[in-house]
Amino acid sequence: MENSRSVSILFFVHTVVLSIVSINCKDNNNLVTNQAALFVFGDSLFDAGNNNYIDTFSRFKSNIWPYAQTTFKSPTGRISDGRLIPDFIAEYAWLPLIPPNLQPSNGHNQFTFGVNFASGGAGALVETFPGMVISLGAQLNNFKNVEKRLRSELGDSEAKRIISRAVYLFHIGGNDYVYPILFANSSTFKSSSKEKFSDFVLGNITAVIEEVYKVGGRKFGFLNIGAYDCAPASLIIDRTKIGSCFKPITDLINMHNKKLPNVLERLESDLSGFKYALHDYHTSLSERINNRLKYGFKEGKKACCGTGPLRGINTCGGRVWGLSQRYELCENVTEYLFFDSFHLTEKAHRQIAELIWSGPSNVTGPYNLKALFELK
Ligand SMILES: *[C@@H]1O[C@H](CO)[C@@H](O)[C@H](O)[C@H]1NC(C)=O
Ligand SMILES: *[C@@H]1O[C@H](CO)[C@@H](O)[C@H](O)[C@H]1NC(C)=O
Ligand SMILES: *[C@@H]1O[C@H](CO)[C@@H](O)[C@H](O)[C@H]1NC(C)=O
Ligand SMILES: *[C@@H]1O[C@H](CO)[C@@H](O)[C@H](O)[C@H]1NC(C)=O
Repeated sequence: MENSRSVSILFFVHTVVLSIVSINCKDNNNLVTNQAALFVFGDSLFDAGNNNYIDTFSRFKSNIWPYAQTTFKSPTGRISDGRLIPDFIAEYAWLPLIPPNLQPSNGHNQFTFGVNFASGGAGALVETFPGMVISLGAQLNNFKNVEKRLRSELGDSEAKRIISRAVYLFHIGGNDYVYPILFANSSTFKSSSKEKFSDFVLGNITAVIEEVYKVGGRKFGFLNIGAYDCAPASLIIDRTKIGSCFKPITDLINMHNKKLPNVLERLESDLSGFKYALHDYHTSLSERINNRLKYGFKEGKKACCGTGPLRGINTCGGRVWGLSQRYELCENVTEYLFFDSFHLTEKAHRQIAELIWSGPSNVTGPYNLKALFELK
């Protein structure tokens, strides 16, 4: 409680300061803001509520208690007990919380500080949870619509300035590898080698980056894929080896993460003015799973919310089988790395966001996000 009160005060102060800043700017030369905006693309690590507004199964929505309860008064759709990585990045960049793209507009210019397009369950491939999520390609189309709206509301040159100074943050790909192994084998997966399949995933990510660049984006932030083969849900797949990471996913994630730096280096040399940050999320997450005490967690492998061994069965919130479904909820969420069987706690998000924001170049490089935001 103490904690959530200080957080609301922080938000309040933050909002007041921002209002003053934007009023000043408006008075000066009719600019809405001088802050670089933040546009967010990706999956459940980043979804701040878009899935609440799409027609999908309840298990893709986290608009239910106890999700988001640590920080927010009511559930927001964030798939954690509280804030997500982009919420912290926005705070460090002196931006307000970045609204989900599909959240109904509550006034003028709600998108000038940026927009969150991410969708829980999304992948880079259209075959990943088809029809249930907003795929990366659909997120790109939503971004293009926002850019059109900025142009019609603010004029071409102001819109161009916002787009080129903004930072574009991505976490995508994990679901493309988890989906065929655990849910359904797409024809693309069945007919490709693992090597070829990861080229498809990276090829589709590259195509989206190039499109954002064409629209005017220049500053990009990426997380490689986290160690989700070692999330509580994965640790219980093989009932004879509870607690071991799930190998078929490990291989795919490793292959992807090995290729991603080369893909980004190539983009940097092909696209003039393209600047990027790559955070080694795989290392920062595995570090915490394996050395939980060092990072202030009592539990690195057991989820706070869920059912069964390691609470690895994703029943949190009772959304899968209805509210009558029983699930366990830990007493003290700050002791946990994982909130539910696949998603981290706010405390973990804060630690990782700090590394993305100001980490040294062997953790986040060649730029970190702070440096990208400061670039003119
Ligand atoms: C898809 O095929 C792979 C082997 O090609 C197999 O390991 C996996 O279990 C299959 N996935 C599903 C959901 O049937
Ligand atoms: C994108 O993925 C599809 C499979 O969904 C694949 O056929 C296509 O070649 C990929 N595109 C690129 C540019 O790799
Ligand atoms: C919850 O856990 C944190 C970290 O381990 C600890 O500092 C705090 O005192 C605990 N809170 C309660 C109410 O037990
Ligand atoms: C990054 O470099 C610092 C020293 O410069 C070192 O202490 C740290 O362990 C390195 N981190 C990783 C993830 O390699």
